[in-house]
Amino acid sequence: MKKTAATSESPAEVIYFNLELGVGFRKPADKTVKQLVKESPPPSCCFIVFRTIIMPIAKILAFSGSARRHSYNQRLVEIAASGARNSGAVVTVISLRDFPMPLFDEDLERDQGLPEATLRLKALFQEHAGLLIACPEYNSSITPLLKNTLDWVSRPAPGEPSLVSFRGKSAALLSGSPGALGGLRGLVHVRAILGNIGVVVLPDQVAVGTAHDAFDGAGSLVDPAIRSRVLTLGEQLAELVRQRSAAV
Ligand SMILES: Cc1cc2nc3c(=O)[nH]c(=O)nc-3n(C[C@H](O)[C@H](O)[C@H](O)COP(=O)(O)O)c2cc1C
Repeated sequence: MKKTAATSESPAEVIYFNLELGVGFRKPADKTVKQLVKESPPPSCCFIVFRTIIMPIAKILAFSGSARRHSYNQRLVEIAASGARNSGAVVTVISLRDFPMPLFDEDLERDQGLPEATLRLKALFQEHAGLLIACPEYNSSITPLLKNTLDWVSRPAPGEPSLVSFRGKSAALLSGSPGALGGLRGLVHVRAILGNIGVVVLPDQVAVGTAHDAFDGAGSLVDPAIRSRVLTLGEQLAELVRQRSAAV
């Protein structure tokens, strides 16, 4: 294969490198090298290169507040996850079906400690800086599954600081419902709960109404405009996580 030398007209690339994991990858910057240098002449150009090299990779945990087999919300979160991945994030999609927990009860907690599923999920929360959550609306509010899960995860294991699984995290919210409002009212409560336990929630969110007609047989969103909004939300979360991690 013939190789050509890079010139100032070559497309520039941003290098994302995760120092902790020791992995990196390259992503086109939509600009030529010349444009980047013109915008930020040396030495700031060198500084920008330095900054982009240490830009961390966003790690995002994605799940829905429904354990239903054909959940619209689980489909939504998977599409948003692909948006975040397109923007360079590492996304772990889980189903809360795999983390069964009893209804929260302080006596149970005192007598038996945190359930095994809670400990597994807390560990996952602590490995990820971003949370991508799609939650159905049940009677105008959050589902009991999501509330119960958040309550358990909020409890400290012995010796742990308060709310260690949530503080410093960034989140993006979605919902889907067969109803016209798409579960929008439930997200008000999800947003308030997360905000009160130390999570920064993106102002943008997506609520998909008439969800029974919104997906094709392969689980993709039929309307390209809605699909684009869901993908963009995932990208926005990845960007917020990167910015907040770089600022620490
Ligand atoms: C107990 C219960 C309450 C519900 N309340 C609402 C509601 O207030 N608003 C709404 O849009 N849909 C409501 N729904 C319908 C859900 O939006 C619908 O079941 C949806 O498919 C659940 O999300 P999923 O597909 O991700 O499981 C309710 C469903 C249940 C089971």
